[in-house]
Amino acid sequence: MKIARFSRMGFILAAAGSAVGLGNIWKFPYIAGENGGGAFVLIYLITVLAIGFSVMIAEMLIGYMGRLDSVGSFEKLAPQNKGTWKFAGFIGFTGILILTFYSVVIGWIFHYISVALVALPSSVEEAEQSFTQLLQADIGTQLFYHTLAFLSITLVVVKGIKSGIEKMNYILMPTLIIMLIGMFLYAMSLDAFSQALEFMFVPDWSKINSESLVVAVGHAFFTLSLGMASILTYSASLPKTVNLTKTSLIIVGLDTGIAIIAGLMLFTFLFQYGAEPSKGPGLVFISLPAVFYEMGSIGTLLAVIFFVGLAFAGLTSAVSLLEPMVQYLIDRYKYSRLKASFLAGNFFYIIGIFALLSNTQAYSELLTFGSRNLFDWIDFITASVLLPLGGLLISIFIGYVVPKEQVRAALHSSMTDMGFAIWYFFLRYIIPPALIIVMFNLLNVF
Ligand code: TRP
Repeated sequence: MKIARFSRMGFILAAAGSAVGLGNIWKFPYIAGENGGGAFVLIYLITVLAIGFSVMIAEMLIGYMGRLDSVGSFEKLAPQNKGTWKFAGFIGFTGILILTFYSVVIGWIFHYISVALVALPSSVEEAEQSFTQLLQADIGTQLFYHTLAFLSITLVVVKGIKSGIEKMNYILMPTLIIMLIGMFLYAMSLDAFSQALEFMFVPDWSKINSESLVVAVGHAFFTLSLGMASILTYSASLPKTVNLTKTSLIIVGLDTGIAIIAGLMLFTFLFQYGAEPSKGPGLVFISLPAVFYEMGSIGTLLAVIFFVGLAFAGLTSAVSLLEPMVQYLIDRYKYSRLKASFLAGNFFYIIGIFALLSNTQAYSELLTFGSRNLFDWIDFITASVLLPLGGLLISIFIGYVVPKEQVRAALHSSMTDMGFAIWYFFLRYIIPPALIIVMFNLLNVF
């Protein structure tokens, strides 16, 4: 199957578009807030550099060398163990699971664009009430926007790598970056900026426990789009002459930079108006709208820019969550792109409806299992179990299964001998044990 190729810039934008998403702007600030700020940020940064960066190169390499969908690439690179390793290719399915709740959250964001345009809540209490009302009672609005999100995501994927995904990222990513920088500069001019700096960078180790560690590692994978074949599938369409190390570094740098900028900006706004940093998933939907209201007319403008930017970030990530499964269906079953996209799309759309219902008063009892409802289970299992597992498989595959000479040759122009030796060492001896330890820590969390 011949795949349309990305341009070099197109790939960087698409991969960065995949990485920069709700994970950076919605999730990162609230989990940092819940886990005490600075100490958590530090663990996360170390994880991104020590694990994320190396796994990113490895995942890219599988697509770059395999040139097929995820299952096909694993098969092709392990000709003797084809039957076993093809199963690693099914990590692409995690993307569909993530999309179930990801699409619902993009739906909330769409709704909040209209809230920002019409009337922001005038106090935190009011904001909390209307967000709770949306989640627990307003099934119709959520369904409407979840449907809209599903259609936007699926229709871009239907158009393919070049005229769908690449084009979308060419427009949305630069716009998003300009919007964020504009808002960040405004945040820097406020008094509370120094307080936000302190919150994000001065560690308070008392808030850290084994669950924070699991969350930090899971989030490093989530935010870098690692462990489920997004990057792998995009890399199958990479032009042959790309420096993988440099490209990975750009993507990791952009992703981390934007998470930090978004975090600092959000906390500045919150502290400036005395709002709470540890509000959980409601942070950007509760505290923030009330703060925008307090700011007056500039606040309305900021609110619109913020939620539109967040929607852009979410959509460019969502297409990368869908593409691996679609590419698999096309390569393996010779489906048309249209058919493959809607088949995979419908899957997340329908499970997403159950996830959405599990937050509502009417159905929560039915859809809660043990300590979490369906929505939270999917979030937790995908980020804390399936993505690290995918990362483990990728590291073992490149570190132990694909012959070393072959790996070295593919990275010939991307790494010096020294760089290769260090990276390979990490992939073999540091990352797999680290991920296994993290997975054992899960036992404490369950
Ligand atoms: N990285 C995106 C975010 O931060 C989400 C995402 C897109 C993702 N593709 C992925 C997460 C692949 C894990 C794996 O929101």
